[in-house]
Amino acid sequence: MTSPIKLVVLISGNGSNLQAIIDEIESGQLNATIECVISNRPNAPGLQRAAKANIKTQIVDHQDYNSREAFDQALMETIDQIKPELIVLAGFMRILSDPFVKHYIGRMINIHPSLLPKYQGLNTHQRVLDAGESEHGATVHYVIPELDSGPIILQARIPVHSDDDATKLAARVHELEHKIYPESIRRIAASQVVFSKGVVYFNEQPISFGQQQYKWNQ
Ligand code: GRF
Repeated sequence: MTSPIKLVVLISGNGSNLQAIIDEIESGQLNATIECVISNRPNAPGLQRAAKANIKTQIVDHQDYNSREAFDQALMETIDQIKPELIVLAGFMRILSDPFVKHYIGRMINIHPSLLPKYQGLNTHQRVLDAGESEHGATVHYVIPELDSGPIILQARIPVHSDDDATKLAARVHELEHKIYPESIRRIAASQVVFSKGVVYFNEQPISFGQQQYKWNQ
């Protein structure tokens, strides 16, 4: 077996995606180690999840810095000391500057609660309902300077029900997220998914739409 992929997970809040990753590592389904969980919010509940799993935590509080660039620089120095192979944004609610993103190009992934490229940005569940969409979902993608726009690794979809509200929809999308985030990391760890020069490869071929779609009961 290859050595576990070294992760740093960045959070700002609840950390349920972090928890899903921890659970899969602990159950032996994901060959990875979380070297550190970094939060920009000192009271993020996800920090407790990390502590409970004996994972190192660090806080880089954006309020301690007077510019985005200064915060990003401090965050970069913190991450680079840890030398992770993959940076996992898991509900990290900060827009990252171009130099930061470029420094980690191909080594940083994000999860977004929509079927990208649809519904970039915030409040996706309500916006999906307001638009009368028949389906919704979640997407894991590599991070590039344009927000919520990087090449897609994995996506999962669910139908929107006629009695859905934003809370119900968010809960079902979260369930999807907890499957596709660990699965994406698993594919990267196994070099099944590779990012090169802006393109995602799946088993050495440019990834196709079908390969990006997470299938239930597969
Ligand atoms: C998720 O919906 C994720 O898609 C978005 O932020 C939320 C984080 O949730 N980027 P959690 O903190 O992992 O519970």
